[in-house]
Amino acid sequence: MGGDTVIGMTRYDKNPTGAGRAVTVRGLVKHYGETKALDGVDLDVAEGTVMGVLGPNGAGKTTLVRILSTLLTPDAGQATVAGYDVVRQPRQLRRVIGLTGQYASVDEKLPGWENLYMIGRLLDLSRRDARARADELLERFSLTEAARRPAATYSGGMRRRLDLAASMIGHPAVLYLDEPTTGLDPRTRNEVWDEVKAMVGDGVTVLLTTQYMEEAEQLASELTVVDRGKVIAKGGIEELKAKVGGRTLRVKPADPGELRPLAAMLDELGITGLAATTVDTDGGALLVPILSDEQLTAAVGAVTARGITIASITTELPSLDEVFLSLTGHRAGAPQDTPAADDREEVAV
Ligand SMILES: Nc1ncnc2c1ncn2[C@@H]1O[C@H](COP(=O)(O)OP(=O)(O)OP(=O)(O)O)[C@@H](O)[C@H]1O
Ligand SMILES: [Mg+2]
Repeated sequence: MGGDTVIGMTRYDKNPTGAGRAVTVRGLVKHYGETKALDGVDLDVAEGTVMGVLGPNGAGKTTLVRILSTLLTPDAGQATVAGYDVVRQPRQLRRVIGLTGQYASVDEKLPGWENLYMIGRLLDLSRRDARARADELLERFSLTEAARRPAATYSGGMRRRLDLAASMIGHPAVLYLDEPTTGLDPRTRNEVWDEVKAMVGDGVTVLLTTQYMEEAEQLASELTVVDRGKVIAKGGIEELKAKVGGRTLRVKPADPGELRPLAAMLDELGITGLAATTVDTDGGALLVPILSDEQLTAAVGAVTARGITIASITTELPSLDEVFLSLTGHRAGAPQDTPAADDREEVAV
């Protein structure tokens, strides 16, 4: 077999456009009747990187992924993946991509192993190669023990890992992950992130859609923020985070009378670069905008050193709503329910 063939599949033609880009999207438009799901989207994903596409419900994320997977035809604009045009070269394009959809795609009645074997066979692998690939991927995604059990008996995280394994069977050069952890608990979410990081370590280019800032932060190097079918911001994570403004430390003293003295104390303390604290009288809490771990440590230290009873102390990551608010000046106009600012973590004090 020639050097360009991996178990019967055509290997990713390294760089047919010579551009170093795995995905190029220009002016993509897609309507569903009256709905403009995509309204002139431009996007570039460099080879070997993770592009996070961030947006609320209905932003057009799945529509974009479906067009880039050749499952939908655009109304206007162009898109190439690994140099292949989505409209003119769908067959070649499908050979270099993997897709883990928003909704689980495995057959629940079949055991994990059978699922992978079947997909391998659908991708034209020989019986032997399909078997070997199923074994290899189950091992890789820590599912060997559960290989013979029906997927219906798997936990949410195991199912998502099986989905990822399924999308990797054809050795994709470009992998689309459409909201891969929506609905998973935080621990399981972390497991999935670890797997994705490992795949990226192997050189796979990833286009990840998500509604979670934290997920984007964990996995993506670049972000494209979409809202109502339009790109409203793009750039590096740090760039966007700086625009959004970091975390907020929320301190709730047991005695609301302590709110203003605490705020004054923090402002007088002169913690480097710490922006002014505000008082949320309704919530009975102090809000301290935090940009660094050092500021967090210093602020928590100062509050606890005061020796008063604290009812709660939490940090809040910027929510998707806050990102939109700061980028566009208006709240994300999600037609359905947008996840609330639920990225709260307790700070050990
Ligand atoms: N098959 C369809 N028929 C009609 N309208 C559709 C169809 N699919 C999507 N839409 C509409 O197109 C817009 C974009 O939908 P899309 O599924 O791409 O958004 P999304 O960003 O993936 O949202 P979510 O986060 O909820 O998955 C929405 O207004 C949606 O209601
Ligand atoms: Mg979607």
